[in-house]
Amino acid sequence: MIAFRVPDPRRPAVADLAAPSPRGASLESFVPPPRFGATDFASYRPTDPSQATARDRVAAFAADAARPRRPAPWRRPRSGVGLYLDGGFGVGKTHLLAAAWHASPLPDAAKRYLSFQELVFVLGVLGRDGAAEAFDGVRLLCLDEFELDDPGNTLLIATFLRGAFARGTDVLTTSNTDPAAQGRGRFAAQDFRREIQGIADRFEVVRLEGPDHRAGRREGGWTPPDALDAAVAEAAGTVAVGTGADLHAVLERHHPVRYRDVLAGVDALALVDLAPIASQNEALRFVHFVDKAYDLGVGLRAHGPHPPDALFDARYREGAYAKKHHRALSRLAEMLADPFPGGAAR
Ligand SMILES: Nc1ncnc2c1ncn2[C@@H]1O[C@H](COP(=O)(O)OP(=O)(O)O)[C@@H](O)[C@H]1O
Ligand SMILES: [Mg+2]
Repeated sequence: MIAFRVPDPRRPAVADLAAPSPRGASLESFVPPPRFGATDFASYRPTDPSQATARDRVAAFAADAARPRRPAPWRRPRSGVGLYLDGGFGVGKTHLLAAAWHASPLPDAAKRYLSFQELVFVLGVLGRDGAAEAFDGVRLLCLDEFELDDPGNTLLIATFLRGAFARGTDVLTTSNTDPAAQGRGRFAAQDFRREIQGIADRFEVVRLEGPDHRAGRREGGWTPPDALDAAVAEAAGTVAVGTGADLHAVLERHHPVRYRDVLAGVDALALVDLAPIASQNEALRFVHFVDKAYDLGVGLRAHGPHPPDALFDARYREGAYAKKHHRALSRLAEMLADPFPGGAAR
């Protein structure tokens, strides 16, 4: 099953990765992931005037979110407001989102940071009332990668956001899609125009322009097989090894929101035979997995029979989820070029 060149009994097999301790709906762990564990505004260097504007707007938004909702006892508490960072990959949206969370003086229980997918999952688990209770008292909600994928999550999110704004929660979010275009091409978005517009109306949109910050660092390309073997042999920490097929089998067994748990205790991945992915569904699971591994700062060395760009099949690659696939390829390239735990950059 593990077609690995240096069978190493100390290394767990990717095929054995499981989600050992489901986090359930515990909100405590909803903080910025390791890759953005210490991100701040000072380290953000705008490469376009719109980025400087966005940085200042986000900083002001985070400061306002920490102010009392009721300025005087005789005044009505203000309801929450929304700020929506819209822009292409690598312009620093997530950087600013994490910086806002870190800069906020609010106690951890009053500020939450999670991906949109995680929120959808939590809402599914907790239900409407449970979610309202769990997010009661949250004054700053940072939501990464707002993405209305289907009618179900559209209604869920519309309801949740209405309640959150009414409770005085300020919502800061990032997306690759402008709010009014959410859902387009993925489902009959026109039938949900009212909900989507209702959501869009609550957000002030700030558009970030500029090149992909990662582009300069992108080297692309797989790890040569010898270099992969050497990286695993010399690695510090836990490296999970296996084939692309092993990985897909694991991903199929777990809900994407559990991929964080699947990766618990794994410092790096060494994957061989990463072959083009036939189905859109499988591809989307893989995209989620790449997102999680990237956020967690998991090391990666990998190779496959075709270049990485061929991972996503042409039949679906440029369809409704094109942005997700391109983002995953950009992140894969960055991870392949990042240092491997305990080893040199490749
Ligand atoms: N203007 C910037 N100054 C410094 N670092 C940046 C800037 N823009 C992006 N980065 C860094 O580049 C990487 C990708 O940025 P990210 O915030 O993930 O982009 P996005 O969310 O817009 O796709 C991150 O490591 C981030 O810290
Ligand atoms: Mg991002």
